Amino acid sequence: MLYVPHQRDTATTALAMVGLPARGKTYIARKVARYLNWLGHPTRVFNVGSYRRQYLGSHQPHDFFDPDNVAGKAALLEMASSALDDMLSWLDHGGEVAIYDATNSTRVRRQMVQERCRKHGVPVVFIESMCNDPAIIDATVREQKLNSPDYADVDPDTAALDFRARIAHYERAYEPLDDPDSSYIKIIDVGRQVVLNRIRGYLPARLAPLLINLHITRRPIWLTRHGESNFNVLGLLGGDSELSPRGEEYAKNLAAFVHSQAPREANVDVWTSTLKRTIQTAAPLTRKPRAWRALDEIDAGICDGMTYPQIKEQMPEVHTARTADKFRYRYPRGESYEDVIQRLDPLIIQLERQESPVLVIAHQAVLRALYAYMMDKPPHECPSLPIPLHTVIQLTPNAYGCEERRFRLDPILIEPHHSQPPAP
Ligand code: SIN
Repeated sequence: MLYVPHQRDTATTALAMVGLPARGKTYIARKVARYLNWLGHPTRVFNVGSYRRQYLGSHQPHDFFDPDNVAGKAALLEMASSALDDMLSWLDHGGEVAIYDATNSTRVRRQMVQERCRKHGVPVVFIESMCNDPAIIDATVREQKLNSPDYADVDPDTAALDFRARIAHYERAYEPLDDPDSSYIKIIDVGRQVVLNRIRGYLPARLAPLLINLHITRRPIWLTRHGESNFNVLGLLGGDSELSPRGEEYAKNLAAFVHSQAPREANVDVWTSTLKRTIQTAAPLTRKPRAWRALDEIDAGICDGMTYPQIKEQMPEVHTARTADKFRYRYPRGESYEDVIQRLDPLIIQLERQESPVLVIAHQAVLRALYAYMMDKPPHECPSLPIPLHTVIQLTPNAYGCEERRFRLDPILIEPHHSQPPAP
């Protein structure tokens, strides 16, 4: 019988992970989901291990995963199938990209995924993570699995032994991706080598730069607004004004903070926008920051140089429309938050690539967009994320997200001004 696939209004894609346990599949799946959601493509991860824990309990011993254990195999297939059902239903109801996070380590299992998706008219791209570096596998076992609910309250040595036995069961049945006709991205040793096979279309291709730049080196990323500027003091939007005396004090405090946090030998990269107030804030640290136009403040278009009360009075339609949808509202001849996210995309890739500490000195709207990416906040929340002046936000990426600490470095020598800055 000829099967007619669903017709859809929007293009949907399934990304199906492939690989042995402890190869960073969930790390990659979450990172891709965070990136695509941030870029405005509704993305969700369907993790088969979570289904197993929910329906069968978390403490399954390693022999449950033995491919010769008939009951275990049937139970795992049922979990895999439930996750797939939910994933396809989610795609039928408005989802755009679904990530099927499972081992999918045999051809038969991948054929099942492909066949079910085909019937729903959903193209599948497999993402395989292969890793043979024992140091990386060891680190993954320790950092991720031993903290997983599968081993809650289990002695770490017992947990490690059980988990290694589980990996060995999967190794016996593992068939790496090799079908020249399927679409796949193969990542070898955390991005050392990346193979793209039959990758078509805008969205899967957009993932390549992110996946090529994966690494697991721990380093802090410091986000800060420039010190108070003369425009901040007057409550004016935009412009390219100099720092106020308080702003200059903050720049000194910031330099002292970075010196106190970064080991002497660490090579801290200092990134600024192309505007004077960020470059002046970097000056006590370096005369040659890396100045990115992508970090310039949201372009307020015809409202540049005005105060909020002036906009409300002289352009009430701008005020009303922006208040109604601050995320999508584009200033006449300027930008919206949504536009800011798109222009920050290459910078995010560079930030992901960076293995040394980075200090980003920028502006409120731009930092809200960066923070939303790092902390996996829905993009529409960007306009209300708190990014105060004279505060360093330290974000340290870890296996599944970011640790956050905030440091207030208020200039204490100079009285604060009270005509405080608008929220751009
Ligand atoms: C799991 O239960 O942790 C994963 C099952 C699988 O995808 O093989």
